[in-house]
Amino acid sequence: MVLKSSSFNLVTPSPPLLSPLFSNPPSRINITENIAIEGRNLSFSITTKQGNFVPILRDCSLRIPSGQFWMLLGPNGCGKSTLLKVLAGLLNTTSGAVYVKKPKCFVFQNPDYQVTFIVLTFRLQLVVMPTVEADVAFGLGKLNLSNDEVKSRVLEALSAVGMSSYLQASNIFRSVQTLSGGQKQRVAIAGALAEACKVLLLDELTTFLDENDQMGVIKAVRNSLHNSEDVTALWVTHRLEELEYADGAIYMEDGKVVMHGDVASIQSFIQTKQSDYIKRTYCS
Ligand SMILES: Nc1ncnc2c1ncn2[C@@H]1O[C@H](COP(=O)(O)OP(=O)(O)O)[C@@H](O)[C@H]1O
Ligand SMILES: [Mg+2]
Repeated sequence: MVLKSSSFNLVTPSPPLLSPLFSNPPSRINITENIAIEGRNLSFSITTKQGNFVPILRDCSLRIPSGQFWMLLGPNGCGKSTLLKVLAGLLNTTSGAVYVKKPKCFVFQNPDYQVTFIVLTFRLQLVVMPTVEADVAFGLGKLNLSNDEVKSRVLEALSAVGMSSYLQASNIFRSVQTLSGGQKQRVAIAGALAEACKVLLLDELTTFLDENDQMGVIKAVRNSLHNSEDVTALWVTHRLEELEYADGAIYMEDGKVVMHGDVASIQSFIQTKQSDYIKRTYCS
């Protein structure tokens, strides 16, 4: 299926449509259900060099069940990447509590188009190894696995992202640098899967991709979740059409979680906002 590139751009924040998931900020989260990601009343702020206090996340709550593919949407600058970094543990909240199943990994694309993934507490990896196989196997060295185990993990991970053909003789020496943007993203995701990551935190991986690569990466994530009931993904995107592949979604504005839950409601809420914006801008 071909996806249309419809990004959205919202300007006016709205009041919350749903009541907050949690009203009392707890200091700790005791997980009893099968939840992979949970944040309660998360706030994050920075103090500028001039001493000004700038709130970036305001009382955000979310809960994502294990084994599901969720998407996080919202206008530029609303706090999506900051929330993802808080969940990854790369930023400490000002208040609130976070739980994310481990091992977790954070995959993002640098402005120089290099895909980077971080398996948290272990390492940061750029996709720069000479071959696809070496790249996916890179992080397994520390695990003391036999050669057969390494090969089997690499094969399983590359199969999950639809790239097992890069282990075949015709492709085995193909340099990673010759792959398309989407293929590099899939190699990064395979690296995380090979290291048995349970939670994939994926930040705007399709922003610079064409439709073909975009679909390839989305399918790779969906397939990774399909192959293992225990892998959960939170996918940040500004492309509304990607929502149809999600099991659930979160919509943010101005540092707040405005909606959280079923895809259809969030899709129709955003579409209404888009058409209101277009009417206000072009038809008044
Ligand atoms: N280190 C920082 N210093 C100052 N402002 C920041 C910093 N990090 C993020 N911001 C601001 O916080 C807001 C949210 O940023 P971000 O999470 O990157 O948004 P999004 O990913 O939704 O585009 C933006 O206004 C951004 O400029
Ligand atoms: Mg961002």
